[in-house]
Amino acid sequence: MTRRWSMSFKSCSAELDVLLRGFIVDLIIRRARLRHRENLVDVGVKSGRIITIAPSVAEKGAVEIDAGGNLVSPPFCDPHVHLDAVLSVGDPRYNQSGTLLEGIAIWSERKPTLTKELIRANALEAIKWEVAQGCLKIRTHADVFAPELIAVEALLELKGDLKDEVDIQVVAFPQDGIYAAPHGEKLMEEALRMGADVVGGIPHNELTREDGIRDLEYAFSLAEKYEKPIDVHCDETGDEQSRFIEVLAKLAIERGFEGRVAASHATAMHNYNNDYAFKLIGILQRAGIHVITNPFDNAVLQNRFDGYPRRRGHTRVDELLARGVNVAIGHDSIMDPWYPLGRGSMLQAANLLLHTAHMSGYAQISQLYDMITVNSARTLGVAGEYQIAEGNTADLIVVNASSEMEAIRLLPECLWVIRRGKVLATTSPARSRVELGDTAEDIDFKRGETQ
Ligand code: FE2
Repeated sequence: MTRRWSMSFKSCSAELDVLLRGFIVDLIIRRARLRHRENLVDVGVKSGRIITIAPSVAEKGAVEIDAGGNLVSPPFCDPHVHLDAVLSVGDPRYNQSGTLLEGIAIWSERKPTLTKELIRANALEAIKWEVAQGCLKIRTHADVFAPELIAVEALLELKGDLKDEVDIQVVAFPQDGIYAAPHGEKLMEEALRMGADVVGGIPHNELTREDGIRDLEYAFSLAEKYEKPIDVHCDETGDEQSRFIEVLAKLAIERGFEGRVAASHATAMHNYNNDYAFKLIGILQRAGIHVITNPFDNAVLQNRFDGYPRRRGHTRVDELLARGVNVAIGHDSIMDPWYPLGRGSMLQAANLLLHTAHMSGYAQISQLYDMITVNSARTLGVAGEYQIAEGNTADLIVVNASSEMEAIRLLPECLWVIRRGKVLATTSPARSRVELGDTAEDIDFKRGETQ
C-alpha cells in the first residue's frame, strides 16, 4: 500500500520497528485540521477505529498521511439520490422543456427498456463518482414501478456488494403514485419484503388530495409493519396549495415517529404565505421532521409556470434551520431526465444552495457544510459514530482546503477518502502554472479562509 502511493504517503519506516514498540497504529493522519478546533492534530487509527486524537502522536503508522493542515472531516452524505436513473440522460430522449413533468414522462418511456444489469452498471459508476468525492453514506430512492421491481432488486444487490465500503439505504419509492398507478400498494409492500430500508411516498403526485393523504397513511402503516423510517417526496411542486407536509408531520406525531421521518424537496413551502409557513415550521420542529433540499433539481424544476418574476424553487432553508428543523442537502439527480448535469459532488450542491437560498452569511457557510455532513447523518439515522472522535469508526476525508468556507468556494479534491481506516480513494490536486512577465509560478487559489 505504501509503495503504491509513494508520492503521497510517507513510507512507513519499518514495520518491525513498529512491532518492537509493541503498539501498531494502522493509520496516522498528521497535521489534520478538524472542524471547530483551532490547532492541528494527529489522528491515529487502529482496527478501523479512531484510537487517538492528539497534537502529536509519537508512534508510527503502518500507513501515514500528511494532511498538511487541510480540513479533515467526517465523510459527506448524500441523503437523496435516484441511483436507478443516474447517467441515463438522453435515453430515450433529452428533456426539451426542462420540466419535472417531461422528466417523469421520459422516465416512464424508459422504464420498459430497463434491465437490472443496466441499472446496476450506471448506479455503480455514480457511486464511484460520489466515493471519489468523499461521500460514503447514500440514501437512494428505487422506483417500485420499474418492471418487476428490478430497480429495487438491483440497488439492494449493490448495497450488499458494497456494504464494507459504502453505507447505502434503499427507499421504496412510488414514482407514479401509490394510488394513481395500478398495484401501488402491492409493489410497495413487496419492496419492503425484499429488504428496502425506508418507506417512500409521493402524495402530491396522486390524483386528488384525498388520495395524497391515503398515500401518506399507507406509508406509515407499512413503516409500522416493517419497523422502518419514512422518506417522502413531499410537495415537490410550486403549487402553494400542496400542503401534504402538514399531514406528514401530524402523522409522525400521532404515530410516534418523531425523528424518523424525512420530507424530501418540500418546495411548495417556498410559495406558502408567511403566516402559514410560520405555523407549519413549528409543527415540523415538534414532529422532528428532517427536510432534505435538493439544490440542483429544485433550482431548475420548480416554479416553471412563473414567467417573470421567477421565484426560486427551494424550501425555506434558512427559516427552517433558524427554528431548529434539521435540513440536509441531497444531490437527487446525476445526469438523468430531470437534471442533465452533475458529477456527484456534495460540495457543489452546497455551493449552489449558498447562492439560491441566500446563505452567504459567514455563519451560514458553516451551516452549509453541516448540511452535507452531520445534518445528513442525522437524517439517515447514522449520527451515532459519525463524528471524528476517539472510539468512533474511522470514516474520514481529507479535503484539499483549509476550512469549510474554502472548501465550498473552491470545490476542491478529496485528497484521501478513508473507510474504517482503509484508503478507498485518492485524488491528486490540480496544478495550475501561470507565466506572467518574467515570472512563472504555481497557483492554488487558496487564501486561507477561516471558518
Ligand atoms: Fe427525488
